Amino acid sequence: MRRRHRAAAPILVLLTLALIGVLYAAVGSAATAQASNEGATTNAQLVKQGQQLFAEGCSSCHGLGAQGGPEAPTLIGVGSAAVDFQISTGRMPLAAPNAQAPQKKVIYTDQETAAIAAYIASLAPGPQIPTDEEIDYEDADLVEGGELFRTNCSQCHNFTGAGGALSNGAYAPDLRDATPRQIYEAMLTGPENMPVFSNETLTPENKQAIIKYIQNMDEQASYGGWAIGSLGPVNEGAFIWIIGIGLLIGAAVWIGARVR
Ligand code: HEC
Ligand code: HEC
Repeated sequence: MRRRHRAAAPILVLLTLALIGVLYAAVGSAATAQASNEGATTNAQLVKQGQQLFAEGCSSCHGLGAQGGPEAPTLIGVGSAAVDFQISTGRMPLAAPNAQAPQKKVIYTDQETAAIAAYIASLAPGPQIPTDEEIDYEDADLVEGGELFRTNCSQCHNFTGAGGALSNGAYAPDLRDATPRQIYEAMLTGPENMPVFSNETLTPENKQAIIKYIQNMDEQASYGGWAIGSLGPVNEGAFIWIIGIGLLIGAAVWIGARVR
């Protein structure tokens, strides 16, 4: 019987990994090629597709021409940014009208979302989906972002971005899962109880700084270990109190038991 070399198993693993890598790259570039083909779809086709998707999924509330209905506002003039924000966070299509549209699982693909956004944008001008350049916060000023966040956002979203309750059963959501694009769009369009921060109120540079600050909070959230929900001193105090005192009592009982 032929003995297998000791290195046979590791080499086999390496070869398999390499093969998977090659296959993955091939599939990836095929997907990119397809995406760029889709990019060639003309705006008119996109609008047409969007109109159809809108008729099927949105018109029952917003009306066939997006003019609004008894339960839902008009979408004429809300712009592609509002549509992209509402669909990409899963808020729309709303399941049933209630106090506040919750974030849900997203049901449209990026391409379908772009189509519906293009359709709404074709009805009237409004805030547009920010470009990659507009949401590039790489060079933004983090300190300025912190100041702007504290003056404009923290009263509702909390100093840590964790969100909080508002009046009438509404709430400001946790910001730490929002993408840079969604943060930018939320400022541009002011969903529900949130005010609109137009590019006159907060310039694109201001917005980038705020995005950088929020993204940075996200990364810093747990440097000190478990952040206990990042809700501040009350939580942390309660945590130390319960766990800390609990440990002390445990130690005391243990010592007591040994002495006897
Ligand atoms: C069950 C009814 C219902 C359906 C279906 C629905 N919406 Fe809405 N939509 C609402 C209500 C109510 C609001 C207002 C409350 C809010 O903003 O959350 C709203 C708000 C919006 C807004 C925000 C408007 C603004 O002024 O910023 C957009 C954009 C929107 N909807 C798009 C859509 C799209 C696109 C679809 C289909 C994919 C859809 N909606 C399906 C009820 C609905
Ligand atoms: C008056 C209170 C208020 C202020 C001030 C406010 N927001 Fe909001 N924000 C809200 C509410 C309410 C919602 C949820 C709206 C909804 O669900 O339709 C929200 C939603 C958001 C979302 C969407 C989060 C998600 O994951 O879906 C982002 C991002 C956001 N706000 C960012 C900001 C930023 C940045 C500022 C400061 C420039 C700000 N907000 C100021 C009340 C506020």
